Amino acid sequence: MNVQNASLIVDMTRSLPPVAPSFNSALGVSLRGIASRSDLAGLLRAATPIGSNRDRAAARMWLAPRYPELGDERRVIVTNGTQSALLLFLRIHAPIGSVILAEHLSYGVLSNLARAAGVRVRGVPLDSEGMIPDEFERLCRESSPVALYCNPTVHNPTTSTLPAERRVAIAAIARRFGVKIFEDEPLGLLHPDAPSPIAALVPEASWYTMGMTKCLAQGIRVAFCVIPKGIDIPMELGDVGRLSYWLPSPLSLALVTEMIENGLAQTILGEISRECQRRQELACDLLRNFPILCPPRSMHLWLQLPARATEEQIVPKLASQGVLVRGSAQFITEVQGKGVNALRLSLSSPSSLELVYKGLKLIATLISF
Ligand SMILES: Cc1ncc(COP(=O)(O)O)c(C=O)c1O
Repeated sequence: MNVQNASLIVDMTRSLPPVAPSFNSALGVSLRGIASRSDLAGLLRAATPIGSNRDRAAARMWLAPRYPELGDERRVIVTNGTQSALLLFLRIHAPIGSVILAEHLSYGVLSNLARAAGVRVRGVPLDSEGMIPDEFERLCRESSPVALYCNPTVHNPTTSTLPAERRVAIAAIARRFGVKIFEDEPLGLLHPDAPSPIAALVPEASWYTMGMTKCLAQGIRVAFCVIPKGIDIPMELGDVGRLSYWLPSPLSLALVTEMIENGLAQTILGEISRECQRRQELACDLLRNFPILCPPRSMHLWLQLPARATEEQIVPKLASQGVLVRGSAQFITEVQGKGVNALRLSLSSPSSLELVYKGLKLIATLISF
């Protein structure tokens, strides 16, 4: 992309949260809290696989608004982010050469992780409400998948939230075909009223993961996972449990635990939520005449392009004016899959509301309907 001549750069490619105003002070208070811990040296001596009981109790508290049914912290493990959790899950449940299903468009990194794990992804068709249960069932019959990766709450990239009836239908189909589920809900706490996780409907065969990337900070590298009910952790992890690539750094984890316990993580989440709301309202106002999907507090929006303006033309055209966005092709999960001529605009990653305004104004002038 040629952005060299642009005087303004608005990067709307990555879905990172806006910086919360109280982040620095919250970090200072929490780091001082950790520094006063009498077990600090022991804490850093070695990483604790899955986290300590204290960390897992904090994780349970954090997850409770979205997953009250999870029971006690014995089902929770901590990893150094969702990507590691997903790779761990694939290593455990998806043998090399097996097939997994995922929404036809989804988290862009999924296809890289699947390649690394030696598994093939087939994309489940979507409509405006998300994954279509009949299509999921068809692919279960056709492809004998071992697992489903899904992101049903404010889906990346289309922003749809799967309705409760579909979650129930998908859970029933997964159970019937013996398909394990990896449910990724990084935005869950920004949308606490979304229907219950699919994982809660098939607790015996699901991993549910909520990373801290969107609701605290990507650089902290901590994700909480709820593993299947009734299975003990060493048994679920098997040999992969001995590898260290997925373990959280003890310092990062201690920080997250401290911030949940002292309530500052929740304060930051509230600030992120309010800033997302401001940006979403601005976007809905500026692009009111465009076919966009952008629910309240969404970190990104989905813009369907008219047939005469393809994403292959529009993405570089916007880049030449300094506005960086992603086209639907970047979210295709199946090797032979096709894009849908749409753009994902991240509203949350530009550093200010003013930059979001400038980026969206440029988009509104460059794309005419
Ligand atoms: C759907 C989805 N899952 C997970 C992540 C983040 O993963 P991690 O916890 O490894 O930062 C992202 C984006 O950054 C995402 O869009």
